This record gives sequence, C-alpha cells and structure tokens, in this order.
Amino acid sequence: MFVDREKFGGEITSQERREEAQPDARVLGHVVHCDGARATIAAFADGDEGTLAGLWTVGRMISINLGVTRTVGLVYAIGRPDRVWDENGRNPIEVSVELVGEVRDGAAGAVPVFDRGITVYPHIGAIAHRIRTRDLQAVYDLAGRQSVTIGSLSQDESISACIAIEDTLARHFAVVGTTGVGKSTAVSLLLRKTIEAQPDLRVLILDPHNEFSAALPDHSVKVDTATLDLPFWLFRLEEFAEVLFRGREIEPDEIDVLRDIIPQAKNLYRNPHSGTFLRRGADSLTADTPVPYRMADLIKQLDERMGLLESKNDRPVYRSLKTRIESAIADPRYRFMFNSRLIEDTIHQTIGNIFRIPHGGRPITCFEMAGLPSEVVNSVCSVLARLAFDLALWSEGKLRLLVLCEEAHRYMPADARLGFAPTRHALSRIAKEGRKYGCYLGVVTQRPGELDPTILSQCSTVFAMRLANDQDQKIIRSAIADSSASTLSFLSSMGQREAIAFGEGVATTMRLKFEKIPTSLIPGSSKRQAAQTSGDGSDVDLAGIVERLRNVPRPQQAVGFAEVTDGQRQAGDPGYRRPVEPAAPIPEDLDVSFGLKPTTFGRSRSD
Ligand SMILES: Nc1ncnc2c1ncn2[C@@H]1O[C@H](COP(=O)(O)OP(=O)(O)O)[C@@H](O)[C@H]1O
Ligand SMILES: [Mg+2]
Repeated sequence: MFVDREKFGGEITSQERREEAQPDARVLGHVVHCDGARATIAAFADGDEGTLAGLWTVGRMISINLGVTRTVGLVYAIGRPDRVWDENGRNPIEVSVELVGEVRDGAAGAVPVFDRGITVYPHIGAIAHRIRTRDLQAVYDLAGRQSVTIGSLSQDESISACIAIEDTLARHFAVVGTTGVGKSTAVSLLLRKTIEAQPDLRVLILDPHNEFSAALPDHSVKVDTATLDLPFWLFRLEEFAEVLFRGREIEPDEIDVLRDIIPQAKNLYRNPHSGTFLRRGADSLTADTPVPYRMADLIKQLDERMGLLESKNDRPVYRSLKTRIESAIADPRYRFMFNSRLIEDTIHQTIGNIFRIPHGGRPITCFEMAGLPSEVVNSVCSVLARLAFDLALWSEGKLRLLVLCEEAHRYMPADARLGFAPTRHALSRIAKEGRKYGCYLGVVTQRPGELDPTILSQCSTVFAMRLANDQDQKIIRSAIADSSASTLSFLSSMGQREAIAFGEGVATTMRLKFEKIPTSLIPGSSKRQAAQTSGDGSDVDLAGIVERLRNVPRPQQAVGFAEVTDGQRQAGDPGYRRPVEPAAPIPEDLDVSFGLKPTTFGRSRSD
C-alpha cells in the first residue's frame, strides 16, 4: 500500500506517549455486549480526573483493543440506563458503538493499516479507549489516490479531511443540506481545490442566484443573457418550442408545422437554389439537426403555405405560429438566440467561449440565470447540458467537463410531470453515461426528497450537510450502502460548515468541517454587503429596476426587429449589434466543429 510519510509524520503525540507509558490512562470502558455490527461499552461519565465525559460523544470514533487488532467503533448513542444523575457518586453509562473496521499495526515502524470489516470481534471485557491519532489517520487514508484537502475532521481538527478527487468527480457527486448551512460555499471550495488539482477540467455552473462568479473571481468567467450567444438553430425542436410557447401547453399542430418547415429552411440556407425540395437519405436534415437557417426563410415558408391554403380552417394554425415566432424574435429577452451574426463562422467560437476552449486560466463558466424567464432557463440549460455531453463525447477524451447544477431539484424533480423533459433528459444522460466520456455531474440541492431519485443514486459521493426534513434524511440514509447509516442520525444537528461525506470519494464515511472561507469569497456575500444600506429605501435605483423589468438596456437599441419578418433581411442580421469579444483561437487538435456535422450531432429525438 502506498503510504504518505509526510502525512503520518506526526508519529506519536506526547499525550499518546504518556498514555503508552501508563496504559490504564487510556482505558475508557469495557465491552459488555456485542452483536455482529454493534457493541455496547460500560463506562463512567466522570473519570477520575473529570476529563472522560467529553471523550464519549456521539459521532466520535473510539477504539477497542484486541491485542493484534484494534476495532474502530463510532459512538452513536450514549446514556445512563436508569436516566438519573448522581451528583456525588460515579455515574455509570452505556455507550453504543457501531463497528466500522479494524486497524492493524504494520511491520515495525510502519504506519497502521485500516480495513473495513471485522475479522476479530470484541470479546466481553475488551478494553475500549480513545483512538490514536495515527489510527484515525489510517481510517481515512485514501491509499495513494490523488487527494485534495477540503477541511478537517470534526472529531480531531488536527487531522485534515481529504477526498479522492478523481473518484469524486468521475463518479458524480452531490451536496445536500438545508438552506444556509453552507452548500454553495462548500461547492466553491470544492471547485477551487478541484481546479488546482486538475487544471485541465472545465466546469459549467448552472447558477440560479448569480453568486458564483464573485466567489471564484480568478478562475471563472460569467455568462448571462447579455453575453450569451446561443443561436436559435442550435436548439432542438422541443427546446425551441419551449421558448415559443413560453413554457405553456404546446399546440401539437403548430409543432407539426415547425417540424416540417424547419428542415426546409435549413435546406434553403445550404443550397439557396434548391427551393423547398428536400432530399431524403443519409444526409437529410431534421428539425433537430444543428445546422443554420434563417428566420426569414422560415417565415417565408409559413407565408407560402398560408397563401396556398384554400380551406380557411387550417389558417389559424399558421397564423398563430407566425405570431409566436415573430413575438419571440422581437422579445428582448431572447436576444441571445436571434442576435447572432452570420452564423456558421462563429459557432465554434461560441462553443469555445462557453466551454472555455482554451480556458486561458479560467476554466469555470458561471451561467447566471437569476431574473431569466423560466422557459429560457429550461431550454438554455437543456442546450448547454446537451452540448457539454457531446463536447466530451466527440473530443475523445481531450476535454473533461463538470456540469454543476445548483438547486438541482428544479431541473430534475422527482415528480416526472414537473420540470422540462429535455433538460432532465440531457442531465440524466450525463449522470448515466457521462463517466465513460469525461462528462461529470455535480448536484446541489436543499430538497433531496424532491430530486429525481435515479440522479441521486448515480452520485457516488455525497456530502450531506444539516437536513431538517425527515423525508430528506430518510433518502440520504437509504443512499448509504455501508453500515455507517447510524452516523446519519446526526444529520439534523450538524453545525455550520459541517458535512458527512460518504461514498467513493472517501475511504470511510467521514464527518468533516469544511475549511473556513474568507468573507469576500463566500457565494452571494458581495450582494449581501451591497444590500446593507441606509434602510429607508432612498438609495434604491428604481429607474434601473424598471429598465431591468423591461429588459431593454438602452431604449434606442430595442428597435429594428420588425424588419426581420419582411423577408428582405436575414434573421441572423438584426437591426442592432452588440460587440462580441474576439474569441481566443482554438487549439488545432481539437475539433469543436462537430456541431455542424449532422451525422454525428443532430440525431433524432429517439436516440
Ligand atoms: N466554509 C465556510 N466558511 C465561512 N463561512 C461559511 C462557510 N460555509 C458557510 N458559511 C456561512 O454560511 C452562510 C451560508 O452559506 P451558503 O453557502 O450560502 O449556504 P447554502 O448555499 O447552503 O444556502 C454564508 O454566508 C457564510 O456566512
Ligand atoms: Mg446556496
């Protein structure tokens, strides 16, 4: 086994040396009962020096000396059987421990080795004592896996809490806990450490409260709808429909029309002289194929059909679809979709910008969604999650991506009727298959009970912070496969920054305290500071708020969309332009143009 000498360099502490000299000092109690998984220890609450009481606390590891091995136990209950307190005499107590595994001394001088599972069960009368620091380190040793330190053990702050970063990432992770316990802060800490350890990783944060970019100032870029550039033709039909219908009930007739005319518009863009003739065959275009088309062509198709129609009955479908498309194009909130300039040249850069290729030292993208209409959030998240997966897939291992979902129960609710199906589909695809291709999922939620259980079950490492709700606690408890389930009875009482980490990323279920983060780097802290003002409201910028409500940065910029529909102008060439920063060059060995190959990217919905 790989042994980190540094880490165990502390050797034996002076207290342990003292205790070694007089072994009785370490004795805390004696085993009086043991079944396969648990043991009960009889002890006294008040030791000779009055110091023992603190050592018997729920959540602590203790050790039972069996000569060759030391059994490690976790205290999960403690009490006086008769529940009375004797002020004068000694107070006998019963301590219930769960057997976690055993520590064995290595060869002379070598560090102790921990194994889960018990080979020698404690006998009645076996001596229980405080666990040695070195034994505790052995319990959480990651056996040579690449590790990052994220805090310290709750039991012993001198021991750092380490996680195996590769396993945590590649097998997906979740952070759960009530609002305000420090999930977002923990995530920003995890991300900072992860980027340090794996500088080639890209991270996309779906950030519903716009709080991460200020928390990761040196590592992240932020994207909001003002800087987002996601052309409408990258959207699949159902994503486009979500935008058109604004999250309301979808009219199947209108979708059928769209499914029909979008491929024709694409065809027209490709071969301007082909008319509406559609080739059927291997390279035929579907409404989902991510190749460019012009809105003007789409509208022209609609107009033509309306003109062709003899029967008045069918016209309302076309007319209402046309109105829907036109009002979406005119809506300033959808500028990011319809604003792109000439399309084909910039799409590589668009993808490169969002997914940080190359990352230029800032591998994290915070997609800021506060204030966006939900249908935009739905469809954009779907497009981005889909792109993330395909990017990892088609880069053949050159790109590794982490998609981090804050408030994940919004995108992947347990109730299948809620949420937006394509987003759920794209994210669960990452959860189920992403690992093979280097696309990972990080899930953050305060309501694990409302999260799709299949997603949670794909998260092999879970950081459970304080959870008040019974239902939520139950779900986390059932997610823990090993015997440490009783550890989770502490879930409702854990302190700020504290978490129980379990799963692939840690050696043994670990109660830890995340590192303290400077106030300026706590997600959302800048906003909270800004909010501390005079109090009577005189400094509230109402004009600015109204401008935001209208979603029009400067009034003169919002004109010019009406012309789009007259067929003269290209839809991709709107009345105003906002400056687009020149994108950094893309490394030559990386093919991000995959998006334009219909054979690899634009498969039909059924795949
Ligand atoms: N690691 C930490 N270091 C310092 N303060 C923290 C830490 N974690 C949480 N806090 C405190 O707790 C507050 C809430 O944390 P936050 O991450 O926003 O919780 P959540 O995302 O779970 O709602 C923070 O504003 C901060 O004051
Ligand atoms: Mg939060």
